[in-house]
Amino acid sequence: MMTELPLFREDFLWGAATSAHQVEGNNINSDLWIAEHIQPTLFVEPSLDACDHYHRFPSDIRLLADLGLNTYRFSIEWARVEPERGHFSGAALDHYRRMLEACRENGVKAMVTLYHFSSPRWFAGMGGWEARGAADLFVRYAERVARHMGDSIAVASTFNEPNLPALLEWVPKTGIPLTTLFQMRRKAAKAIGTGTFGCFFLGDPRKLEQTMIAAHHRARAAMKACPGSYPIGLNISLQDEQAVGAKSKRDTKCAKVYHAWMDAANASDFLGVQVYTRCRVGKSGDLAPEEGVELTQMGYEFWPEALETCLRYAAGRVSVPLYVTENGIASEDDSRRIEYIRRAVAGMANCVADGLDIRGYIHWTLMDNFEWIFGYRPKFGLLTRDRHIKPSAHYLGEIARSHGASLAAAVRQNRLK
Ligand code: BGC
Repeated sequence: MMTELPLFREDFLWGAATSAHQVEGNNINSDLWIAEHIQPTLFVEPSLDACDHYHRFPSDIRLLADLGLNTYRFSIEWARVEPERGHFSGAALDHYRRMLEACRENGVKAMVTLYHFSSPRWFAGMGGWEARGAADLFVRYAERVARHMGDSIAVASTFNEPNLPALLEWVPKTGIPLTTLFQMRRKAAKAIGTGTFGCFFLGDPRKLEQTMIAAHHRARAAMKACPGSYPIGLNISLQDEQAVGAKSKRDTKCAKVYHAWMDAANASDFLGVQVYTRCRVGKSGDLAPEEGVELTQMGYEFWPEALETCLRYAAGRVSVPLYVTENGIASEDDSRRIEYIRRAVAGMANCVADGLDIRGYIHWTLMDNFEWIFGYRPKFGLLTRDRHIKPSAHYLGEIARSHGASLAAAVRQNRLK
């Protein structure tokens, strides 16, 4: 029997996301800028001007609104707001306030992330998240931001994917020899002028977890005491973890990379769910992509159904509302992005139909940008870097304008074929 896809609630957030270091350009006071410019480096190229979003945000936000999206997720760059330890930049805080004003002028809700992978160089130079006092420093920064602009924020996350180092265990997978890594760390520490380089990506997952969860709770409490009233949660990276074989390590893996963060979100206002693909887990850990499955530019399996599975998994563990704060694919072929969005949003609609409390869908990403160590090659954007509008942007915009009705029609039509 044909069931009608539900229409999403009127206040559902439909949007696109970016992060400061990936789009602003010239984030020269950050630890990643240093890592990009030393030799040897893990980065295939440096970020340089990125998308110059630091200057172009007024027209970028207008464009997002014109597409029909009602939410913009972006991050505030700690390295700009606190360029030296204890010294806050009023000009940088005003800059982000102007971004929030641009959102308001365009009828767009602002979803703000306080920390999206990059740190001030001085923070890395003292050892980063593994250093004593790291949480205190983050709480002080978060409080400054909230005091300066909390009245204009619609939704805030303390951290973007703090579980990423645990999830990826990515260094061994890159094939980069450990000696190169140590050399890079040593050179970066020397460039900062200290004996250490505590970059988030290279952190010890167990140590990060303890400190960052404490920092999350304390920052949230400090922000709640500032002007404004908005939900504060955290966004984690999730994969559809599929068990392969009887002795699969799937459950151990899930417990290790997700549960503590989900508990932290559960004691907050929401969990941000960020999903790209599935991962098959065998008896000795993650398996390579399955033969014959289409791969994206990142080498991930094209698996839009992962969103539905992950939303259901998350809803089984937390009782707070969920937002999809990232979902997307890297592809030069924009028709694959449209297909991905269609199937991912349809899966999310199934969850809504079953009563899951999902409040928004934010696509990664607004424009092609600096994909970290992989540079500018992977194309995740709804827009190109020079702001050419791809068909997928109109497709998502239409879903947003109709609150899912246009998608419901498309899915029904597809089922009838
Ligand atoms: C991150 C983004 C990144 C995206 C695509 C997420 O892990 O939050 O910064 O660009 O995935 O890889």
